[in-house]
Amino acid sequence: IHNVIFKNSDDASIVIAQEIAALIKEKQAKQNYCVLGLATGSSPIKVYEELVRLHKEDNLSFANVIVFNLDEYYPMEITNVQSYHYFMHEHLFNHIDILPENIHIPDGTVSQKDLYQYCIDYELKINAVGGLDFQLLGIGRTGHIGFNEPGSHPNSGTRIITLNHITRSDAAEAFFGIENVPKRAITMGIGTIKKAKRIVIMAFGHKKAPVVKEAIEGAIKSDIPASYLQEHKNTTFVLDQEAAGELT
Ligand code: F6R
Repeated sequence: IHNVIFKNSDDASIVIAQEIAALIKEKQAKQNYCVLGLATGSSPIKVYEELVRLHKEDNLSFANVIVFNLDEYYPMEITNVQSYHYFMHEHLFNHIDILPENIHIPDGTVSQKDLYQYCIDYELKINAVGGLDFQLLGIGRTGHIGFNEPGSHPNSGTRIITLNHITRSDAAEAFFGIENVPKRAITMGIGTIKKAKRIVIMAFGHKKAPVVKEAIEGAIKSDIPASYLQEHKNTTFVLDQEAAGELT
């Protein structure tokens, strides 16, 4: 694991977008697919903005890109503006040339009885295309990655989870009140994420400083799921100065 600290999140986001663009082009040159694991939330917005700019102004094509998003609330309608489906289309997919059949986002409308099999199939789909070449992550104040809340097993796969209270209160504003935030979500597991060949995890702002310190410098433990990334050989924490503020 290593850390890179930028003056601000915009500078950090541009460097991350450049790494993703370079990987897409490298795969294109070999006529290979590029399999990206993507996140939602506030942290990656500028990364997506920059990728859209590279598509429009620099001819970056996403025709060879396959995406698997980390998570989705459950239950959740695809058309709901709070859904991660909506977020990804709004910030990225509607503005690039990715093929619709190459977009995978956990489906918050799957019935309760089909959910178990649905999650297994999501995992199998990732494996069938050779696994994730690159996984982009944010970190929650609980230490979650994806929606792997404290207590998640290091080998966990895609599954339905119960959201932590802190996570739900952080989402309350977007849902106009905590009572409207779904109590559950579908998420890729820690094991799913750790199989990615490359992981970049972003944390911006002073509110993330305590959990960033624990994830990077603390013991590896299920209380802080992001600490499991210490065991991954090709992970970079990309921070701004505020999020890095408590590192020794
Ligand atoms: C989102 C996700 C979450 C967020 C995390 C940080 O798909 O998986 O783990 O990355 O909650 O969210 P922000 O970036 O809004 O601080």
